Amino acid sequence: MIDLQRRPELVCPSCLGPLVAEVSALACPACARPVATCPSEQAPYLDFIGQVDTGARGVGPRLMHSRALAQVYQRAWRPAFTAIAGGRRHDLGEELRLVDGALASARGGLVVDLSCGPGHTARHLARGGAFARVYGVDWSTAMLDQCAKRCRDQQSDVELIRADVARLPFASAAIAGIHAGAALHVWPDPAAAAAEIGRVLRDGGGFIASTFAHDGGALPRRAAALFEWISDARVFDQRALLGLFESHGLEDIQVLRRRALILFWGRRRARAAHAR
Ligand SMILES: C[S@@+](CC[C@H](N)C(=O)[O-])C[C@H]1O[C@@H](n2cnc3c(N)ncnc32)[C@H](O)[C@@H]1O
Ligand SMILES: [Zn+2]
Repeated sequence: MIDLQRRPELVCPSCLGPLVAEVSALACPACARPVATCPSEQAPYLDFIGQVDTGARGVGPRLMHSRALAQVYQRAWRPAFTAIAGGRRHDLGEELRLVDGALASARGGLVVDLSCGPGHTARHLARGGAFARVYGVDWSTAMLDQCAKRCRDQQSDVELIRADVARLPFASAAIAGIHAGAALHVWPDPAAAAAEIGRVLRDGGGFIASTFAHDGGALPRRAAALFEWISDARVFDQRALLGLFESHGLEDIQVLRRRALILFWGRRRARAAHAR
């Protein structure tokens, strides 16, 4: 049974109301139904989605549900894609240092590795013991199973949640820091996800993300369109991407560009007093 008193940040993703713990589920009294199943041996994550099919469409997004990909993702897929897009060898150490810097203000609070995949960054965040809790959130059961296995093997204290980034089961302003690595380009609705990130981050909370982007030039735009056509993954226009997150409360945005790769980070603008 999930101890909700210790996790007041968990809410119903539909109505954002408080939840009630049942033996193997969480229920929402306002919606009058169970909204999540508790972790079990077969499904070691708190599951707010339930059905197997998430509705992911297109080659790239669907691949993320493949068990074969989940197995080789961390060792082969991620370094290869990052190297091709960035035009240089993937430097994981550099990436993790940037994540640590962007989430420094979140120390002692709750952090989320959003679309955690096999969970390399989530485990890194949990390792130092700097945060009150580290959540790994994804909607792919293949990725979450891999993540759970690796967390078990490495005795990593990461709490796994199966949820859609566009409907997060967290209370507004409850989260101190969010990392979303190499994921925005496969999210079906980045605008809805950015709105959720802006909603759940507390004032001053840190956010860092990496994805594919172009600078608006004619050639990069054409290459991006070709890649999008082949993969069904997005390549963002940098200005539009940063503008989207700004419009959902991100400020002091900093950017690191490596060819088609962008890493950007910032912090949640303080809400107006009447919006708190
Ligand atoms: C390329 S992997 C990134 C994994 C990891 N964050 C990293 O830094 O390598 C993208 C992840 O986004 C997840 N994802 C895609 N759409 C999602 C959604 N709507 N909600 C939650 N996760 C999603 C996929 O399941 C996949 O695990
Ligand atoms: Zn509800």
